[in-house]
Amino acid sequence: MFGNIKNCNNTEDFRRLAKSKLPSPIFHYIDGGADDEITMKRNTESYENCDLIPNVLRGVEDVDISTTVMGQNIDMPLFCSPTAAQRLFHYQGERAVSKAAEKFGTMFGISSLGTVGLEEIGSNIKTPKMFQLYYHKDRGLTDSMLERCHAANFDVLALTVDTIVTGNRERDLRTGFTMPMRLALESILSFATHPSWAINYFIREKFDLPILKDHIPEANFAISLSDYFSKMLDQSMNWKDAEELRKKWGKDFCLKGIMSVEDAKRAVDIGATGIILSNHGGRQLDGSRSPFDQLSEIVDAVGDKIDIICEGGITRGTHVLKALSLGAKACSGGRMYLYALAAGGQKGVEKALSNMKNEMIRDMKLMGCTKLSDLSRKNIRFR
Ligand code: LAC
Repeated sequence: MFGNIKNCNNTEDFRRLAKSKLPSPIFHYIDGGADDEITMKRNTESYENCDLIPNVLRGVEDVDISTTVMGQNIDMPLFCSPTAAQRLFHYQGERAVSKAAEKFGTMFGISSLGTVGLEEIGSNIKTPKMFQLYYHKDRGLTDSMLERCHAANFDVLALTVDTIVTGNRERDLRTGFTMPMRLALESILSFATHPSWAINYFIREKFDLPILKDHIPEANFAISLSDYFSKMLDQSMNWKDAEELRKKWGKDFCLKGIMSVEDAKRAVDIGATGIILSNHGGRQLDGSRSPFDQLSEIVDAVGDKIDIICEGGITRGTHVLKALSLGAKACSGGRMYLYALAAGGQKGVEKALSNMKNEMIRDMKLMGCTKLSDLSRKNIRFR
């Protein structure tokens, strides 16, 4: 029933198809969260505690959902968050996601753990590009990333601030997930039962982490995330470092993983152009608040000084409309396109973005709105 991306009408359809296509350690790496996965679930559930109040008879034949976020003009208020190791999920990896984002005129992010070169993305993709930076102990590595991003014309630098250590992802502990996959008995079994993924993975271009590889000691590496985070990232990272980085970068800069009002104000003070309200998809601190629950407080404190992006748990166009009604400038998501990438490469991501775009336009019309600035707190009530 869910065998074809044409039949995937929502995130859950893509999730099921991805599950059938991926070796289980890889599926669970995408699908899982930290500890008891309470925050991960809450991220989506928090959108269900409030309701939209539509207006009617407003002449809604033309709807414009374009916006400007962190200086970037995008055709819809939803973009693809940077996520790691996309080549593991589908052989087209970041190439598929960046092409699909370009087709829909929206932004996408490349992770420090990206599996494609920054130069290639820079020369092939015209839509706004974000680079997600992990702050490494090796300052030379951080500097070389900045230089390469500049040379490749990346538009926005996102410093991830919520992964000072890895979250306790028990699904990954159970499956022994590493990047690339280590050839243990269970993974070989899992490859054998997912032959089309395995064939593509093994006969096509080899898995690589080109942004990092010159700085990882072992030639034939397989890293676990917790090793990467604990050995290579700098836990002493602080506000001064973030400010210096912002200055060194010189273009639009955001902090990814801000949750408190205090930190949102400091982000303004250091001259960031955006904050991504995020708990890393519930993959880090389980028991932390959902971005949507926290959104109003942050908007009230800094909404007129910085662009606020609400990330996490978004599966529907109405979720985006709710976040924008409270004052978010845009939304972003990872799993919403990663399941689709796993399910069908570039075509899958295009279908996922098209579903979301169609939902947002349909929902705007049903709300009696023709432009995003028509959305406000007047059209939302908490139960
Ligand atoms: C993760 C990191 C790598 O959540 O962003 O898996």
